[in-house]
Amino acid sequence: MALKRDDQLILSILIGGVGNHIGAWRRPNSRVEEKYSLSLFQDLIGWAEAAKLHAVFLADTLRLERDSLSTQPLAHLEPVTLLSALAAVTKHIGLIGSISTTFSEPFNVARQLASLDHISGGRAGWNLVTSAWGEENFGRELPPHEERYERGAEFAEVLLKLLRSWDEDALELDRSTGVYAHPDRVHPIDHVGRHFDVRGPLNIARPPQGHPVIAQAGSSGTGQDVAARFADVVFTTGRTTEEDSRAFYASLKARVAAHGRDPDSVKILPGVSPIIGETETEALAIERELNGFIDLVAGRARLSRQLAGTALDDLELDERVPLERLPDVEAVEGRRSRYGVYRALIEEGWTLRRLIEWEVSSAGHFVPVGAPEQIADLLLERFEGGSADGFILLPSYVPEGFQLLTDAVVPILQDRGAFQREYAGETLRQNLGLAPVPELAR
Ligand SMILES: Cc1cc2nc3c(=O)[nH]c(=O)nc-3n(C[C@H](O)[C@H](O)[C@H](O)COP(=O)(O)O)c2cc1C
Repeated sequence: MALKRDDQLILSILIGGVGNHIGAWRRPNSRVEEKYSLSLFQDLIGWAEAAKLHAVFLADTLRLERDSLSTQPLAHLEPVTLLSALAAVTKHIGLIGSISTTFSEPFNVARQLASLDHISGGRAGWNLVTSAWGEENFGRELPPHEERYERGAEFAEVLLKLLRSWDEDALELDRSTGVYAHPDRVHPIDHVGRHFDVRGPLNIARPPQGHPVIAQAGSSGTGQDVAARFADVVFTTGRTTEEDSRAFYASLKARVAAHGRDPDSVKILPGVSPIIGETETEALAIERELNGFIDLVAGRARLSRQLAGTALDDLELDERVPLERLPDVEAVEGRRSRYGVYRALIEEGWTLRRLIEWEVSSAGHFVPVGAPEQIADLLLERFEGGSADGFILLPSYVPEGFQLLTDAVVPILQDRGAFQREYAGETLRQNLGLAPVPELAR
């Protein structure tokens, strides 16, 4: 079957540990005991690199939902630390981690990312998130949605200036003359803005990629604008109708062009959280098993958080959520677009039980259930349908659900000519087909 597109899929995969489904840790082989061990992550990234996936992704959040800890394997290692360890045991695969712009400082984050890029030989990636919660751990109020993105945009601007504050030829390293570097090729940035006042330069030489690949995962209008200005890769929820997905794809590409950038230089990767089995029958059985582990009380609390704190305790599971309880999308200060996805399902008439089951099995992403062939067909359909340049895979259970993606779905995509069999370059930017980062015009 000839492909309709001449480019190939871009695939990255979440390595969160035991799986995206709330019940995944209770499966016999889940390796939940290794959630804080390098061994589990070394295996996961090894399978992903052997399958030639473009990147692994580590999500991050800055709050522990303590009440839900009794039944959910919450809490996780800090991304940059873990990715640095994984850089040492891999050669080609990209290393993308989430870092908050609301609760971090650009000089520190520039140091972390430059170090990861040097250590990995140019494979670092940063998922720019503005954090919709966690303020209690920083002694501050959570800034409103718009302000978080305004700070996020300035944060990215400062970070990019810092990372490019050394010219490519700043280092001399001439033992005979004793000249180590050329200070006139290392530049202060003297940034003074509404949120940051940073003199620079960075105290780490220019990283191999110039600056890491920038991902961004906010799909609201404001979020899309920040993505259009700075992102190389955009993660989004895959759980919308084909039309919505295509509309989001077209709207974001148009915003990129409006910022004077080549729309093809930004890769849109919706999230997909497949429940996969060797056969469809097995996949359905695994879905029943995983859903059998659902803690509906914890699930109800999680759903209420996604619904901007809407009260749900008085509702029966087979009841619908009354629309009048829900705020307007634009009034939501937390995860606005994610809330929008849930609100649309409530308008479609989903019951509380169905909403909870879906929330805890994917946190808002697309959950196809099936055999490798079926999952491959679906990914290709969306790729060729013009709503994605690839996907961020969120394995619903580990290790089998992860390995069926890397060892069964990927070979099918490769056989159909839709996915790479070898890495194209050395750095993540090269492997994503992105242009090199030019020197800053001085
Ligand atoms: C695939 C994917 C991964 C995400 N990872 C994180 C993360 O690691 N940390 C985080 O705080 N938010 C994460 N988010 C949430 C986004 O940063 C953002 O809050 C959300 O998409 C709502 O954005 P909006 O308010 O612009 O609509 C992720 C979203 C997606 C789609």
